[in-house]
Amino acid sequence: MTSTDTASHFTHPDRNLAMELVRATEAAAIRATPWIGRGDKNAADGAAVDAMRKFLGTVNFDGVIVIGEGEKDHAPMLFNGEHVGNGRGPAVDIAVDPIDGTSLTAAGRQNALSVIAVSDRGSMLDASSVFRMNKIVTGPAGHGVVDLSQSIGENIRALAKALGKPVSEIRVAVLDRPRHEELIEEIRAAGAGTRLLLDGDVAGGINAARYESRIDMCVGIGGSPEGVITAAAIKALGGFMQGMLAPSDDEERAKGIAAGLKMDTILSADDLVQGDNTFFVATGVTDGGLVEGVRRKGPIIRTESIVLRSKSGTARRVIADHLAEKWLEPDQL
Ligand code: FBP
Repeated sequence: MTSTDTASHFTHPDRNLAMELVRATEAAAIRATPWIGRGDKNAADGAAVDAMRKFLGTVNFDGVIVIGEGEKDHAPMLFNGEHVGNGRGPAVDIAVDPIDGTSLTAAGRQNALSVIAVSDRGSMLDASSVFRMNKIVTGPAGHGVVDLSQSIGENIRALAKALGKPVSEIRVAVLDRPRHEELIEEIRAAGAGTRLLLDGDVAGGINAARYESRIDMCVGIGGSPEGVITAAAIKALGGFMQGMLAPSDDEERAKGIAAGLKMDTILSADDLVQGDNTFFVATGVTDGGLVEGVRRKGPIIRTESIVLRSKSGTARRVIADHLAEKWLEPDQL
């Protein structure tokens, strides 16, 4: 028997695109840092977009932005439909959120992330015509157990049973919005605890799916783009996710239908991002439950990122030390 035979269940090592993409989220997070707590979310976002775009240009792929900063005329860079990468290598769809939590960043609050998700060309749902989506995310235990068609109380009880813990120990993350008043009451009436998010339901969703996290479920209505980005991460984590588009009025509903989107239909993670070749990277801008934010330690700037790949199921945590002199003006050193 040769060594190749003994290792026949291993596939050949191939390229992990996310290891290259993480440079772009690191750069976006570093460039956004001077804007933390400065009250100007557009400036923070602009700095992150600019940095992310420069680094994406160096990656060996032929990328098309499916989820970006908006339509071309409103977003000067990283707009939907824009081609990024050096044009060589695999043809992919990209979703970018240079800062998920622009308001958090501007206020100097926790949990802002810089995020990129990538999948094969044509596999990512372009949900941009409907701004919001109702979502439910859990870890692997939620498969075949929770469902958006069930009440939140039923889902909490079913998940508690699957996890083998009392309902009183189930923690549910939900965006703190007036539209969620009833949902929040129902979570508490079921006997579970809420973890209210000021913003940033990408981090909320990922935390619900991570086995070592203190959150068991993330529910409620948030951004549709963030929903698709979360799905890419959830697929890599083996977690469970469903979404349903939540148009705010008849006009938005009609726009979504005209764009070919399904309304009143529960979408699985596979409907949001098809296939088994997703990559997801996120770097902390400010400190959070998922990763630490950017910090300066003398001559270095330290970033923390998570790097996920669905094909291998690998989840990496990347701590990088960047030379401050390469990133800062002489008077900032
Ligand atoms: P931005 O950083 O783009 O402002 O998004 C933050 C966020 O909280 C998302 O994480 C979430 O999906 C969405 O906004 C919720 O939208 P809304 O603030 O309109 O409820």
